[in-house]
Amino acid sequence: MPVSIVIGSQWGDEGKGKIIDYLSKSADFVVRYHGGNNAGHTVINEYGKFPMHLVPSGIFAKKAKALITAGVVLDLEVLVSEIEALEKAGFNLKNRLFISPRCHLILPYHKILDKLYEEVKGKAKTGTTGRGIGPAYADKVSYNGIRLHDLLERKQFSDRLALQLKIKNKILKALGGRPLSQKQIEEEFLILRKKILPYITEPYPKLTKAIKDKQNILLEGAHGVFLDTDWGTYPFVTASTILPGGANAGAGIPPQKINQVIGVVKAYTTRVGAGPFPTELFDKQGETLRKAGGEFGTTTGRPRRCGWFDAELIRFAAAIGGFTEIALTKLDVLDELKEIKICTSYTLNGKKVSYFDGGSVFLTEIKPVYKTLNGWHEKTRGITKYEDLPITAKRYIEEIEKQIGVTVRYISTGPDRKDIIVR
Ligand code: GDP
Ligand code: IMO
Ligand code: MG
Repeated sequence: MPVSIVIGSQWGDEGKGKIIDYLSKSADFVVRYHGGNNAGHTVINEYGKFPMHLVPSGIFAKKAKALITAGVVLDLEVLVSEIEALEKAGFNLKNRLFISPRCHLILPYHKILDKLYEEVKGKAKTGTTGRGIGPAYADKVSYNGIRLHDLLERKQFSDRLALQLKIKNKILKALGGRPLSQKQIEEEFLILRKKILPYITEPYPKLTKAIKDKQNILLEGAHGVFLDTDWGTYPFVTASTILPGGANAGAGIPPQKINQVIGVVKAYTTRVGAGPFPTELFDKQGETLRKAGGEFGTTTGRPRRCGWFDAELIRFAAAIGGFTEIALTKLDVLDELKEIKICTSYTLNGKKVSYFDGGSVFLTEIKPVYKTLNGWHEKTRGITKYEDLPITAKRYIEEIEKQIGVTVRYISTGPDRKDIIVR
């Protein structure tokens, strides 16, 4: 299938990096098209372990060209250190990595504002990654953003920055922060500009030609459907469109050219940051999952909240995202459990309700309806053939397929690229 998109189906950290690294072996282009370095995609393969924040996780497939397209917001310091780390590991990115000058920049005031907003909100905070993502996207859509295009023209950058600092320093002061110095930011950005310059070129013509030539394009979604600004658990969401439609805007790929939508689904549920989580486990069971799954954030190191598989959520994600298949990850994390629960639906005051019937307060009021399945009490870690799975593990997977109505094509049985079953 020439154009495939990988989408997170829960609240992020489903194992997208692992799946993308696996799928990229046949890709000509690997593309990040939205979000920023709030994403943390772990890749473990023969070259080592890499937490990817901005460079596409498919960079390890040596024939693939890597694109960062218009929809991404860039923290240049993070990007430069990621490029340098990859080069140190033996991956030369010159003529392999192409970054759109349309990308908006995360500036120092975005990161400070992100933290100040959280402080002011207190108990009602979102629990952001603190990377300046919300404020950077807010500037983008309120016509206050500064793009790589501007950084390419020194005077333009200086003028735009001066204008923004006029506004931002007032806000910073009002919120108890300290005003920022134009000179210092300009100096820092001029150094970063020099380092990033060889990679800046609009990827759109390359992608358009690749589509025409029927080359393989792999689009790397970040975060997860329930962090989508419009369809997620607002206001506990992130600032970009996570649904496949985001690739039309963010990468310039016509919607009908996307042939395959692979929903990455963790075999249970996790969430980091605040917001409703209907199947969350507050007892020992939740801790068992956190420990077995190593559920600590790739970006911030925060412990992830853990809970049972929520079919109501995944059904919605699969429907609205148009999933053509599912990649089920972290099956091995359930190996030790006696019983495993699946939430099959929600009720409110005894009546069946759906995810989309209400907002985030509603989701704290609904009751999950559970179906209990037997565990398998056997090691599945590293299994690569479906027939080698314990019968109860197969039943779990088949129950998920029945609940969602989408084929589970890939089953990940460990963090390494080679720990995978393809059906
Ligand atoms: P992403 O943001 O969706 O790419 O996911 P993260 O990388 O943030 O978090 C997923 C974590 O689970 C990482 O530590 C991965 O190395 C790990 N992982 C991915 N797939 C599997 C799997 O099938 N089994 C186990 N045990 N770990 C996995
Ligand atoms: P990957 O791509 C998990 C969450 C944050 C917070 C909310 C808003 O690794 O799956 P932000 O910093 O984006 O303004 O924070 O969104 N969040 C993620 N949680 N995985 C991610 O990305 C996330 N990206 C954002 O924890 O709750
Ligand atoms: Mg992650």
